[in-house]
Amino acid sequence: MFWNPKKNPREVFTPRESKVNQVMYIERPELEEALLDGLLGTKHLVLHGESGSGKSWLYKKVLTDQSLVYRVSNLANASRLGNINEEFLNILNRAEEAKKTSYTETKDAGFNAALASANLSHTDSYRVGSKEPFEALLSDLHAESKGNNAVLVLDNLEAIFQSQEHLKELADLITLLDDDTYAKYRVKFIVVGIPGDLRKYFFETPNLSAVGNRLKELPEVFRLTEEQTEQLIKRGFVDELEYLNVKDKLYNEIVEHVIWITDRIPQKIHEYCLALALEAYRNSRPLQSDDVKVADRKWLEESLYQAYSVVEASMNENETRVRRRDQVIYSLGQLNTSAFRAADVENYVRSRFSDSTEDVQLNINGTLSYLAKQSQPIIRKTPKGDTYVFADPVYRMCIRIMLKIEQNNQLVKKRPLDTLDLDSYLF
Ligand SMILES: Nc1ncnc2c1ncn2[C@@H]1O[C@H](COP(=O)(O)OP(=O)(O)OP(=O)(O)O)[C@@H](O)[C@H]1O
Ligand SMILES: [Mg+2]
Repeated sequence: MFWNPKKNPREVFTPRESKVNQVMYIERPELEEALLDGLLGTKHLVLHGESGSGKSWLYKKVLTDQSLVYRVSNLANASRLGNINEEFLNILNRAEEAKKTSYTETKDAGFNAALASANLSHTDSYRVGSKEPFEALLSDLHAESKGNNAVLVLDNLEAIFQSQEHLKELADLITLLDDDTYAKYRVKFIVVGIPGDLRKYFFETPNLSAVGNRLKELPEVFRLTEEQTEQLIKRGFVDELEYLNVKDKLYNEIVEHVIWITDRIPQKIHEYCLALALEAYRNSRPLQSDDVKVADRKWLEESLYQAYSVVEASMNENETRVRRRDQVIYSLGQLNTSAFRAADVENYVRSRFSDSTEDVQLNINGTLSYLAKQSQPIIRKTPKGDTYVFADPVYRMCIRIMLKIEQNNQLVKKRPLDTLDLDSYLF
């Protein structure tokens, strides 16, 4: 095949890009509609989901498509600076700086300076302090949206979720938005983050339950579907990079492999596909199946390194003859449900390791409880108590790529991290 790479894979697969790449954005109709409905309603919104599931891209895409004016405040800054108000001030100052720069640039360019200067004196009034930062920010958004609805996103809720003080401040801000002084600016909040139970938290905290009524929790931003994952791979490798053709056998193999090992989490799909695409790009040739093995190894080493040591610490590789715990860990990685019961795990262990489990008591409950009690546990009990979930979705991905079965199909082995022996890899 004639090799003429038109694009650098880094422009196509962007695992940590905060700006939405419209070409690579995969539509998520149900989530987009829920968000859109929420924007039309009267309540403020809570958007939650695991890290890397696409929350930020989702609201940025929808708000941009709707031509809604919005600004993002980072609650991690609120935590760092002491309170949310300081972060609002931070945003205002940043906007002011940006306007000043553009004013200086305009002045230097020698045109329209009068207009820019007028803008500048407008923003300067915040510094004089006629309005406190919250109202100044709302008023700024209102002016920018020319009196239409606007949105203030409060992202990274997890950064303040442990702090009663910050949550109380957030509750006060939400309550204030109902007050005429603030309501007239027509600004809606979207609170974004990993924990989903903000509403519940407010409901259950004395004196704050009224805040819960003002919030609407949107459906969880979850992994992509298999179809959406394939769309993303196709758009990147076939349409944008032209490294693969949908008719290639390798294309189908890659789709299946990526769906399996990334657990369909958008950020992880980008991360893995980038590692894979770079193999071809660096070598100035089309993709080959060995590239997948190299990408597996690099991904495991670079992105799953920490998870690898945690899973490793939970194993009993050298302790017993059948290494039952390792069989259980391997099986956890193979299950597709987000929560699992001991019985689900036992069924899997018995069918996958039938030779070493026949007529043997397994005590899967005991093993799961042991795993959940480690200082860095890979699983944890759900509040209801009869099911377990992965403590972090990264462990599922890690187990899928790091563990393999050897010796008469009964023994679980880990792939060493420091090997260049590609045949020890999955693909
Ligand atoms: N709809 C989408 N289509 C294609 N790629 C996506 C989509 N959503 C997210 N991504 C990819 O996943 C990456 C992570 O997405 P995003 O930053 O929105 O996640 P997040 O849920 O906000 O994570 P965090 O909680 O860590 O902030 C993006 O940089 C992008 O590469
Ligand atoms: Mg985000």
